[in-house]
Amino acid sequence: KIKACLFDLDGVLVDTAKYHYLAWKRLANDLGFDFTEQDNERLKGVSRMRSLDILLEIGGKSLTDAEKLDVATKKNVWYVDFIEKMPKDEILPGAKEFLEELRQAGVKIALGSASKNAMRILERLEITGYFDAIIDGTKVEKAKPDPEVFLKGAESLGLSAEECVVFEDAEAGVEAAIAGGMKVVGVGDPEILSKADMNINSLAEMSVKRLEYFN
Ligand code: BG6
Ligand code: MG
Ligand code: MG
Repeated sequence: KIKACLFDLDGVLVDTAKYHYLAWKRLANDLGFDFTEQDNERLKGVSRMRSLDILLEIGGKSLTDAEKLDVATKKNVWYVDFIEKMPKDEILPGAKEFLEELRQAGVKIALGSASKNAMRILERLEITGYFDAIIDGTKVEKAKPDPEVFLKGAESLGLSAEECVVFEDAEAGVEAAIAGGMKVVGVGDPEILSKADMNINSLAEMSVKRLEYFN
């Protein structure tokens, strides 16, 4: 029986991909090359330092570890600047309503995100209070598709993997959920997320009733 929903953040609850893109693009331009929205697709669900490695590969640049740390920090300052100005209504369609419905129904709610900025974003959207557990990029060692982030979420809630459903927009995230022995709903392109147990376009299609499918 399903007792909890574990949510990815970027791309599931909020559309932050465009801000990551603008900040990475600014860095690429600073380093002397271009970075397109199509390139940005490769960074979804990927950790900050791994994203930088992909960006540098696209630009054909190599940096020392110290330089990498320096430019990643710069990119994050720009990204945080966008986040701080993000309108509260940038929460994705249906997200707040579904969180509210889950709470009313007594279904537990957890966050499972790779982002080190997760707390700041939840605060900005004024949805921190919905979460019974928050596992973010500051609490995990292994990136998705490793299941660590979701297993820690289940553990914090005192539940087993079979009692949890994960909501993910990235292929690596869907794989992480499966590796953790959890059911998974793919939010977004059903072709990219073909391994998910259920596919939806947005959380606006979701309801507590629909969770019964997994029981
Ligand atoms: C993931 C995003 O949620 O977090 C990635 O999908 C991002 O695009 C990653 O790189 C790390 O985020 P942050 O905020 O710690 O740089
Ligand atoms: Mg995501
Ligand atoms: Mg994520």
